[in-house]
Amino acid sequence: MKNATLHQLKVFSVAARHLSFTRAAEELFLTQPTVSMQMKQLTKAVGLPLFEQLGKRLYLTDAGKRLYGTCQQIFAELSEFESAIADLKGLKQGQLSLGAVSTTKYFLPRILGPFCREYPGVDVALQFTNHEYLLNALSDNQHDLYILSLPPASPEVTAVPVAENPLVAIAPRAHPLANEKGVPLERLAQEPFIMRESGSGTRRAVEMLFAERDLEVEVRLELGSNEAIKQAIVGELGVSILSAHTLALEREDGPLTVLDVEGLPIQRRWYAVYPAGKQPTIVAQTFLDFLASGAEELLLEAPAVRAQFQKC
Ligand code: PGA
Repeated sequence: MKNATLHQLKVFSVAARHLSFTRAAEELFLTQPTVSMQMKQLTKAVGLPLFEQLGKRLYLTDAGKRLYGTCQQIFAELSEFESAIADLKGLKQGQLSLGAVSTTKYFLPRILGPFCREYPGVDVALQFTNHEYLLNALSDNQHDLYILSLPPASPEVTAVPVAENPLVAIAPRAHPLANEKGVPLERLAQEPFIMRESGSGTRRAVEMLFAERDLEVEVRLELGSNEAIKQAIVGELGVSILSAHTLALEREDGPLTVLDVEGLPIQRRWYAVYPAGKQPTIVAQTFLDFLASGAEELLLEAPAVRAQFQKC
């Protein structure tokens, strides 16, 4: 390995994460032949193949898997070293890699604004995905922190509460149930329903609610994004139950309304999670402290969200 360079290891890590030289080249702003050349040289330095191609797909060989694990440790250590040095200089500096469930799109970027203004030396990478994919990322130790609603029982994690995440029934403004109070859940279940994709934490919470009451909903449409569901509701394809935060930028007299259904909102809470026993990096701890120092108030600035919180 004497001839391998840090740059090659970096390129390898990204290619191993994507299992694609093309996507690695895109992420690193390199050309694909450059990535191939770097991987060829690294393979020579290791003395064993790192990738194997089966059909159109690329896989890591055993040597590749071992090297990927080693690279993750090396880069995590280096990044923590950089932060520690910056901390010694009295600065908060370094990388913060966050993975978050898709519903947090409506609040995390807004919270990152003031955070990045307070800590301009921190580089944030934020990836959104659904609950199930995020749990996989947690098992693979891909990020510093994970923001989600239902912290997993395994692997063991430390979970720090971040903010309330009530789930509410959303319908078009002109819906016949829009002005009714205390709509029975049974009545809501008779409406054509628009459901999030399987693997979504929102979907799991909705399914549990109906299952607890022995109710079945008629799922008319399954969509993989909250925003697409809102558009489908406006298009009168059905109703749905989504996080109240998805309404953050909606006008109070806009095309969507929240139905007053008994048993709703489903009370949920977002947590910032990291593997138990793993010491958060200095930057990650700074972000956790920032979240604890009033992130929730920031969220309540959105009138549509505040209205829902008042009902909780
Ligand atoms: P989802 O998760 O984006 O996968 O629906 C939401 C949540 O866990 O709050």
